[in-house]
Amino acid sequence: AHFVHDTQGLAGSVHPEATSASGSGKFNVALLGAAGGIGQPLALLLKQSAYIKELRLYDVANTAGVAADLSHIATGARVTAHSGAEALGTALFGADLVVVPAGVPRKPGMTRDDLFNINAGIVRTLVAGVARYCPAAWLAIISNPVNSTVPIAAEVLKAAGVYDPARLFGVTTLDVVRARAFVAEATGAAPEAVTVPVIGGHAGVTILPLLSAAVPQPRLSEAEAKALMARIQDAGTEVVKAKACLAGAGSATLSMAYAAAEFATSCLRAKAGERGVVECAYVASNLTSSPFFASPVELGPGGIARIPPLPRLSPLEQAGFAAMQEELASSINKGLEFAPSTM
Ligand code: NAI
Repeated sequence: AHFVHDTQGLAGSVHPEATSASGSGKFNVALLGAAGGIGQPLALLLKQSAYIKELRLYDVANTAGVAADLSHIATGARVTAHSGAEALGTALFGADLVVVPAGVPRKPGMTRDDLFNINAGIVRTLVAGVARYCPAAWLAIISNPVNSTVPIAAEVLKAAGVYDPARLFGVTTLDVVRARAFVAEATGAAPEAVTVPVIGGHAGVTILPLLSAAVPQPRLSEAEAKALMARIQDAGTEVVKAKACLAGAGSATLSMAYAAAEFATSCLRAKAGERGVVECAYVASNLTSSPFFASPVELGPGGIARIPPLPRLSPLEQAGFAAMQEELASSINKGLEFAPSTM
C-alpha cells in the first residue's frame, strides 16, 4: 500500500526491464540525518514504502534506537542503523537513492542563508561519501540553503568525476505541498486534487508559485494572488515562529517529511519504470539563464528524462521571476565558490 495518493495506479505500469539490480523493483534507500526532526518522521513514512528493500538510517549518533523502533513495524522494508562517520560507507554502499536532511535547521530570526556555513560543510562531506560509495545513486538534498547546497553537491561530484546532473535534486516539494494546501483552502477543492507548479529556488522570493497555472484555477484578484504568493514564500517562517516556544525550536519537520516521502516515492516509481512521473525539483537546468532552477521535471529510469518548458507566466509572476534572479545567482555562486575552495 502507498502512503501517498496514487492517482495513476501501479498495476501494469511497472516495466520489468527497468527494475533494480535484484530485478525486484525494490531499492536501497539511504537517509543521511535520519535521527533528526525531519529524518525520523521521514524514516517512518519510508518504512511503509513498497518500493524499498532496505532503508539505511545514517546520522552522527542515535540511529540504533530509531532503527529498532521502526523495525517493529510489520512492513517489508528492512531498516538498518549506521551511526558515526566511520559508518557512512556501509550506509551508502549499494544505495540507489540517497536522501539528505542532515544539518542544522533555522531558528527564529535566522534566514536559510544563515545556515550556510554549517550545512555547506556537512553536505560537502556527505556528498563526497556518495561519490565514493554509491556514485550511480540518485541524490536528493533537503539540507538548507538548498539554493547553495545543490551547487555544492554538483561541484563535489564533478571533482570526483561522477557528476550526472540527471540524478541530482534539491527537494522543493514542500513548497509545492504548501501551495497545494493553501490553494485548496482558497478554492474549497480537495488538496489531493490540486496541482501548483512552483519554480525558481527554495528561499524567500526565489520561491515562485505559478498560481496562474494551478489546477483547479483559484479565482483571485491581483492583491489576493500577491498575498497568497507571499504566504507560500514565507510559509517556513510561519512554522519557525510557531515552534519558537518549543524546547527544541526549529523549522518544518512533519510537513517536510511528508513532502520528502512524496518526492522519494516518485523517484523510486520512475526508477522502477513507471512513465510520466513529474515532480518539481531544483536541478541543473537550461530553462532559464540560471544554471540551477526549480521547475516541474519528468523523471525516468535514469533520472531526469525531460524538463518541460515553463507555462506562460502572469504579469505578477513575470515580476516575481525578474525579482528572484539576483538572489538566486548569488546563492548559487556562494555554493560554487565554497565547494572547491575548502576541499
Ligand atoms: P535537526 O537538527 O532536527 O536534524 C538534523 C540531523 O542531522 C540531526 O540528527 C543531526 O545529528 C544530523 N547531522 C548533523 N550533521 C550530520 C552529519 N555530518 N552527518 C549526518 N547527520 C548529521 O534538523 P531538521 O529540522 O531535521 O532539519 C534538517 C535540515 O533540513 C536543515 O538544514 C533544514 O534547514 C532543512 N530543511 C529543508 C527543507 C526543505 O524544504 N528543503 C524544509 C525544512 C528543513
